Amino acid sequence: MVDETKIIVIDDEPLMRITVQDALMADGYKVAVAETGKEGLALFTKNHTDILITDLKLPDMDGVQVLKEVKAMVPETQVIMITAYGSIDSAVRAMKAGASDYLTKPFAMDELLLIIKRLVRIKQLEEENLLLRKKVEERYGLEGLVGKSPQMLKVYDLIETVSQTDTTVLLYGESGTGKEVVANAIHLQSPRKNRPFVKVNCAALPETLLESELFGHEKGAFTGALKQRKGRFEMADGGTLFLDEIGDIAPGVQVKLLRVLQERQFERVGGNETISVDVRLICATQRDLKEEIQKGTFREDLYYRLNVVPIMLPALRERREDILLLADHFIDKFSKKMGKEITGLSEDAKTLLFKYSFPGNIRELENMLERAIALLKGKTIQAEDLPEEVCGSETPVHTICEKILASKPLSSAVRLFEKEYIQSVLEKTKGKKGQAAEILGISRKTLWEKIKELEIEI
Ligand SMILES: Nc1ncnc2c1ncn2[C@@H]1O[C@H](COP(=O)(O)OP(=O)(O)OP(=O)(O)O)[C@@H](O)[C@H]1O
Ligand SMILES: [Mg+2]
Repeated sequence: MVDETKIIVIDDEPLMRITVQDALMADGYKVAVAETGKEGLALFTKNHTDILITDLKLPDMDGVQVLKEVKAMVPETQVIMITAYGSIDSAVRAMKAGASDYLTKPFAMDELLLIIKRLVRIKQLEEENLLLRKKVEERYGLEGLVGKSPQMLKVYDLIETVSQTDTTVLLYGESGTGKEVVANAIHLQSPRKNRPFVKVNCAALPETLLESELFGHEKGAFTGALKQRKGRFEMADGGTLFLDEIGDIAPGVQVKLLRVLQERQFERVGGNETISVDVRLICATQRDLKEEIQKGTFREDLYYRLNVVPIMLPALRERREDILLLADHFIDKFSKKMGKEITGLSEDAKTLLFKYSFPGNIRELENMLERAIALLKGKTIQAEDLPEEVCGSETPVHTICEKILASKPLSSAVRLFEKEYIQSVLEKTKGKKGQAAEILGISRKTLWEKIKELEIEI
């Protein structure tokens, strides 16, 4: 780095010029010298220069003037001003005009070399920083969310817009698509970021417990309620409440939730005092709430209160261009965490990941890479380090062919294959038909018809 640094020295005293030039060249810098301001500026315009050292008093012009002209041409040039002994005023003037440092005459050569070393280091750091920032920007969207696909850019846009308001947001998306990270990103981008972000998993609690978890309870409200307890709504006051798996809440709690949304107030379980809170609500669900309404398990009025701004998180297979970007991100994360030096994925492994359908989405990718890295002996993740469902995804066809080969005509072989394939996709999606239809690239209706026609058991 040192030998790439180019320096111009402007001083009208020949001895000074020569001594400085010799010392700097001995340290490996490329040095040009000039006697006057004009000459120095002419040199500067012709050559790329990192550092300019100039005397404050030059025969033809003021050193500060030279500094200003240089900075106007190339702002990142670093200027060291040499001032007369005791002239603090001019040193201050030079620093104010943008000098990086100054020296008063007479000075020890080591002092100058030290200043230059420091400036070179600063420049290196700035360049490194710029590079890192560029790298980070290439990979990340908002708040550490990885992904650059058009679908994700749309999500980032929505996050930024809604975070500036208090509107209720409803996040849709399959398991592992990042609903929780997005909820968190909205909170962190919002003016509420320094207030609490409180999360409740509505599917994890039975009705009565969920009610007291959300709204709190008074002492003696039910057996075991030994003390008064604040609910999550109160804990989130001033901040954001994230209700995960909202599609799973029982009808009784739905009614109470509807009231909070309408009136912003509630009572603790077993209490009479009405409590008001200022809470921003974000909800998430894997379910199709419209379907739940049809089935009668979800209140329509609550749905409209929650669905003010819906954000759909795309499945990973719908934005394949993000798969390898995310893989890089997780490899980086886990190799650092486990202290392993890993170069990345082999070409075969990349192809397999790119083609895989990821029913478990980002979480599935994250888990498989964590496991691969933990067990990895070498430096590169190979195809065989990936789970069977990924690296074996080529083989089922082969296996099925062998199975079918028992002298069957093509039509019944195709039928058998269709049946096996649809069955395996349904198994993978745990019977979720919407998701299965998407993977198969057919409508739900066609899937239903196939299930009936091929007598598929689910
Ligand atoms: N865009 C992203 N960039 C980086 N990591 C992500 C991204 N989205 C999700 N993740 C990671 O993937 C994992 C799953 O994300 P998250 O828990 O938010 O999903 P989810 O949709 O809430 O899933 P579930 O419905 O199963 O609760 C987390 O470890 C999260 O950090
Ligand atoms: Mg979640």
